[in-house]
Amino acid sequence: MESIVRDLSLRDKGELKIEWAENFMHVLAEIRRRFEKEKPLRGLTIGMALHLEAKTAVLVKTLVKGGAKVAITSCNPESTQDDVAAALTRWAKVYAWRGESVEEYYENLNRVLDNEPQIVVDDGADLIVLLHKERKELLENIIGGTEETTTGVIRLKNMEREKKLAFPVIAVNNAYMKYLFDNRYGTGESTIFGILNATNLTFAGKTVVVCGYGWCGRGIALRARGMGARVIVTEVNPIRAVEAIMDGFEVMKLMDAVRRADIVITATGVKKVVRKEHFLAAKDKCIFANAGHFDVEVWKPDLEELAVSKKKTRYFGLPWNDYLVEEYTLKNGKKLYLLAKGRLVNLVAGQGHATEIMDLSFSLQALSIEYLAKEGKNLDRKVYIVPKEIDEEVARLKLKTLGVEIDELTEEQKEYLRSFEIGT
Ligand code: ADE
Repeated sequence: MESIVRDLSLRDKGELKIEWAENFMHVLAEIRRRFEKEKPLRGLTIGMALHLEAKTAVLVKTLVKGGAKVAITSCNPESTQDDVAAALTRWAKVYAWRGESVEEYYENLNRVLDNEPQIVVDDGADLIVLLHKERKELLENIIGGTEETTTGVIRLKNMEREKKLAFPVIAVNNAYMKYLFDNRYGTGESTIFGILNATNLTFAGKTVVVCGYGWCGRGIALRARGMGARVIVTEVNPIRAVEAIMDGFEVMKLMDAVRRADIVITATGVKKVVRKEHFLAAKDKCIFANAGHFDVEVWKPDLEELAVSKKKTRYFGLPWNDYLVEEYTLKNGKKLYLLAKGRLVNLVAGQGHATEIMDLSFSLQALSIEYLAKEGKNLDRKVYIVPKEIDEEVARLKLKTLGVEIDELTEEQKEYLRSFEIGT
């Protein structure tokens, strides 16, 4: 089936965005040069559900240069950039537009699967779950999949544990070259950018509450402090809570933190983190934003229930989004603000992670897909970590593109370490 996007006339604008990203994705460019020569993906169809923006388009072009056919939709109904989607139709089958209804979102996932992919590339696992639940007839065709994000890996590991996973999946999220940079610095920067973009307010001097101190929460807290905010962290994991304290943040229960908060940011992967009692305790004009994969962390049904009125506010006028802030007025006149409808604020109110960060994540994707093409048939129905060689290859290529050389162990040093291993 042909591509379905919002407006093909946006192609040239989308091309410019992709061109800009390509200028700064040097690691993927190295991989692309090799892929062009070796065509490791020749004859394969790859079905993808990734946030459809410029850096994703650079990954798609790399896979196509490697010989694959690609069908793609977004992994979130609100994250597609329509100009990029239009431009990408030159390279792939594209089924995506900004502001899809939930039904349209699933129709588009199904359209990707109608292309009968052998490899699936997912962010959040909606595509893979759909394949297992409603498109079982396609499962035997699948060599394997990759998963980009923490939430998706958790879902897939549950499927593996219940013996329901029908093919091997590589957890790209869990590679060092992914989470140390993408989850931490990528989310840290892009979440703050999304909030600044949506509000035109400053972080300096504000009290910012970060819910969750995983890799994403760590990055958000770090960058918020760097912008001059007083940062409070909330956690349920005692080890992470101690880590946040040692990193210099105040740690307390959300109920206490929310009374002081100017901005609350969730990054937990769990639902109903901010709920009725927190909305009731929050200060007038408190801002709520979510950086987790699903729009369940700031619990909108409670906000809707408490509000006597609701309106879209702060007209933005961006081609891909007119309104990024909703104002909820409570019975006592208190106003609370929700950004990006509680969806991923960095992609809905921003443009996703910085280009150099996605260069690393998508290089891992490209090499993991190549690995599946070669080895997938020999793998079990399990969630695999990215092979160490691939993780290190991405690091080596990054250093190469930066022109940085590092030392190597001498033979004597290697021997010294080996002697430890045998316990002498
Ligand atoms: N751009 C494309 N995919 C992304 C992701 N998972 N997070 C942030 N930015 C992205």
